[in-house]
Amino acid sequence: MSASLPTQGCQQPEVPVPFYLPAADEVDLFTAAVESSLPVMLVGPTGCGKTRLVEHMAARLSRGLRVVVGNDDTTTADLLGRFLVHGGDVEWRDGPVTTAVRRGEVCYIDEVVEVRREAMAVLHPLADDRRRLHLDRLGESLEAADRFALVCSYNPDRAVGFRDLRPAFRQRFVTIALDYLSANAEREVLVREAGLTDDAAGRLVRIAAALRYGIGERGGDAPSTRLLVNAAHLLVRGVAEDAAVEACVIQPLLHGRERADATALRELAMAI
Ligand SMILES: Nc1ncnc2c1ncn2[C@@H]1O[C@H](COP(=O)(O)OP(=O)(O)OP(=O)(O)O)[C@@H](O)[C@H]1O
Ligand SMILES: [Mg+2]
Repeated sequence: MSASLPTQGCQQPEVPVPFYLPAADEVDLFTAAVESSLPVMLVGPTGCGKTRLVEHMAARLSRGLRVVVGNDDTTTADLLGRFLVHGGDVEWRDGPVTTAVRRGEVCYIDEVVEVRREAMAVLHPLADDRRRLHLDRLGESLEAADRFALVCSYNPDRAVGFRDLRPAFRQRFVTIALDYLSANAEREVLVREAGLTDDAAGRLVRIAAALRYGIGERGGDAPSTRLLVNAAHLLVRGVAEDAAVEACVIQPLLHGRERADATALRELAMAI
């Protein structure tokens, strides 16, 4: 197998339901889509809860979860499977999509815009009412098990984006747009995820709001909920707030920025 295989993982159906705080009606929409055998597309910025929502929903719906993270080397074989030489014999090995289709799992293709066009095309008959997967190399066509669900996601802020997904692909999905949570909800996430006090969580959220506003005016990455959760973990371990904010929030935002911007970001954060 190539070194560029997509990251894969499997969550068993009986795992405890991971914590997910809904921003709006996304849990209901997701449930209704999956129960109608419709595929789901999640669109939202980095660290806004896309992966967590899928983990939450799979556990809540008592379905196994198979994860593929797309990259520009993701081929059809990476998704569907390939023949491998094993002990002198040539054997077929199912890829993650095929396994999920056979077992009736949730198949989550993260960063789907990165997947190569030809690999995406094999998903078309799976993402509509045919719910079929054609395995050309095996000369087989599989009907997806009842509990199979296809979920894809991408971040629209990345260089490649919505326009790169063909209309024929996009228009198969129930599409749920996610964004960063409201201040109160984000505070609750920090308390639940890291065990931070409500006051300290409130301060981190206000710092994030100031940075998001300031960065929005200048252009650049906005701090994600993930960065705040990281900072919250350090605060719980006794790290001082300015050090935690610098290491977990300011520095990760600085890629390619001028030093002057770093100072401006620190000023925004420390004004809280
Ligand atoms: N609504 C939410 N409920 C609970 N936790 C959340 C929520 N949103 C974000 N988080 C927290 O933020 C972290 C990052 O979220 P997640 O990994 O789901 O982001 P993502 O949208 O998949 O980002 P990426 O596009 O970078 O993969 C989670 O591990 C969790 O701690
Ligand atoms: Mg993710």
